[in-house]
Amino acid sequence: MAVMGIESTAHTFGVGICEGGKIIANQKSMYEIKDKGMVPVKVAEHHSEKSNFIIKAALDEAGLDIGDINAIGYSMGPGLGPCLSVGFHSAKKLALENRIPLFPVNHAVAHIEVTKQRFGVSDPLIVYVSGGNSQILGIEDSPFRHYHVYGETFDIGIGNMLDSFAREAGIVPAWGSEVAKVAANGKYFEMPYTVKGMDFTFTGLLTFAVKSLSSHPVKDVAYSLQETSFSMLCEAAERAMLLTGKKDLIVCGGVAQSLRLKEMLKKMAKPHKKQVYVSPNELNADNGAMIAVVAESMFKSGQSFQIEKLDIKQRYRADSVEILW
Ligand code: FE2
Repeated sequence: MAVMGIESTAHTFGVGICEGGKIIANQKSMYEIKDKGMVPVKVAEHHSEKSNFIIKAALDEAGLDIGDINAIGYSMGPGLGPCLSVGFHSAKKLALENRIPLFPVNHAVAHIEVTKQRFGVSDPLIVYVSGGNSQILGIEDSPFRHYHVYGETFDIGIGNMLDSFAREAGIVPAWGSEVAKVAANGKYFEMPYTVKGMDFTFTGLLTFAVKSLSSHPVKDVAYSLQETSFSMLCEAAERAMLLTGKKDLIVCGGVAQSLRLKEMLKKMAKPHKKQVYVSPNELNADNGAMIAVVAESMFKSGQSFQIEKLDIKQRYRADSVEILW
């Protein structure tokens, strides 16, 4: 069985194909972010221009025709409305024209599942860190089987916080990964640190870091910002790990590409004898393969959807999804 997944929640238009859980294609095109950050309509234009090309590239990579595809999944949300619409309409068109069942996939659940299935970890604590989201989750069976959110950001996602800082500091391109390069030889100075139980906030820290640019070298600010925000995540994750007793920990989402964050989480988990699992970068960046993996699980669990009733959901929380597989 071959399943196609289409991802378009934010800057990336991605198409992946999996067969029996194995990823056999993963193609994408990423919108290049300019100084003003992401302008949703501009990003959506990029996705519209690239969609047919990326769909064909994924089919070519897999050595398949659209007629070989048994199911299609699309990112239903959370994400930017105009971007989600492009992915949804591309998927819907393919599904209707070729009589293929269509599956609405939660983007956060896809980030989690692709790593869980890759390592065969059934019940981990999850640190999900991306541009728009930062959450600590784990499977709970009541009132229905779902990813319960134990803790999360009260304001912005850690990825957007780092990108916003990069823009303010004139770091080009304005990505968290570039902040990490600037931080390489920085020195630490104290910054606001806010963890409430297993929740945390980033806007106060961001404001402080931006203000500090006038009095400190940018490398010291970048380093201190990274250390402080990652430490907050580690503290919240450690508390959740001990409270839930989960044996494994997975880190996923775009910010899971950060070497420093992975290193800090592994250091935190080691004394507790917990294993930390992280997928390779191409599966933590937004991609279509993770959408395909979840669509395949949904299909195999017997779920089905009426295409005309499907839509996008800009604020689609992971904890509202019933996990039936
Ligand atoms: Fe993502």
